[in-house]
Amino acid sequence: MLTQLATRQLIVVTGKGGVGKTTLTAALGRLLAAAGRKTLLLETDPRESLHQLLNTPPSAGQVLTAGPRLYLQNLSPKAVVENLTREKIPIPPLANSIIRHPVYQQFIDGAPGMKEMAVLGYALRTVQGETRFKADVVVLDAPATGHSASMLQAPLLLADLIGGGQLGEMAKDLAKFIANPRRCGVVLATLAEEMPVQETLELVQFLREKLSRPPEKIVVNALYPPVTGAGARGSDPLAQLWRDRRAVNEQELARLKAAWDGPVVELPLLPMDRGPALLDALATRLEEQVT
Ligand SMILES: Nc1ncnc2c1ncn2[C@@H]1O[C@H](COP(=O)(O)OP(=O)(O)OP(=O)(O)O)[C@@H](O)[C@H]1O
Ligand SMILES: [Mg+2]
Repeated sequence: MLTQLATRQLIVVTGKGGVGKTTLTAALGRLLAAAGRKTLLLETDPRESLHQLLNTPPSAGQVLTAGPRLYLQNLSPKAVVENLTREKIPIPPLANSIIRHPVYQQFIDGAPGMKEMAVLGYALRTVQGETRFKADVVVLDAPATGHSASMLQAPLLLADLIGGGQLGEMAKDLAKFIANPRRCGVVLATLAEEMPVQETLELVQFLREKLSRPPEKIVVNALYPPVTGAGARGSDPLAQLWRDRRAVNEQELARLKAAWDGPVVELPLLPMDRGPALLDALATRLEEQVT
């Protein structure tokens, strides 16, 4: 997996809320950086949490170093659009007055797909060396499934809608970038539970039908380990609960594999809080399965 993923310029990590997207983004970034690629982990969630795994302060919009060849940045989609505007209009007072203008604000907030496209555009410009900070690969901790689907589709829709002009050309370039599986990989994170698996399978179908490209991998996270020893038989309620969760995991994993014939990576539920130790442990498990 890494040998393939290690050649991508953008890896979009998505999945249902709470399934481990941010954790997986950090773990993938760790492996890519270790494989020699200058890696930017990009988070757009205003509830910054990536830094907690990487032992850095919150990014607050800045690019921070998180290890050898590993960087992180938290940037709101709106900040991405504003930064782009400032780049295009290199006279700061003029750029400021445009950005503050209500019509501009309404356009940014209201135009469907604009903010989503700006985030993808920022990733593309970062790997093409057109931004102040350049990287070989961006790992995007993308929003939850539905929003990510809209985000990935936005360039295609806007390219159709706008046609020519600077914005239309940007949309076309981005749509091509997203559609190219050699440049852009989509990694789906899920739990082996009914609703997350359902959403995952729906997103696989969406990616196939609307973007003509399947995801690259599905990572099934936080699997309950099998119960062994006395716990496998006893009537202790905790052991019973554990066996039940594990049974659901097995059933849903089987359902996922029956419907998806691509690669599946399985990560265990580990008894650790969010933090560098959890990241280390999961990155190791990921590496064992991907090299
Ligand atoms: N394999 C695992 N073992 C134990 N805890 C895990 C594991 N994976 C993730 N977690 C924990 O689960 C919680 C949710 O993970 P994370 O924040 O990565 O999910 P997310 O999909 O990014 O959530 P959100 O949709 O809210 O952004 C975190 O507290 C994280 O530490
Ligand atoms: Mg998250």
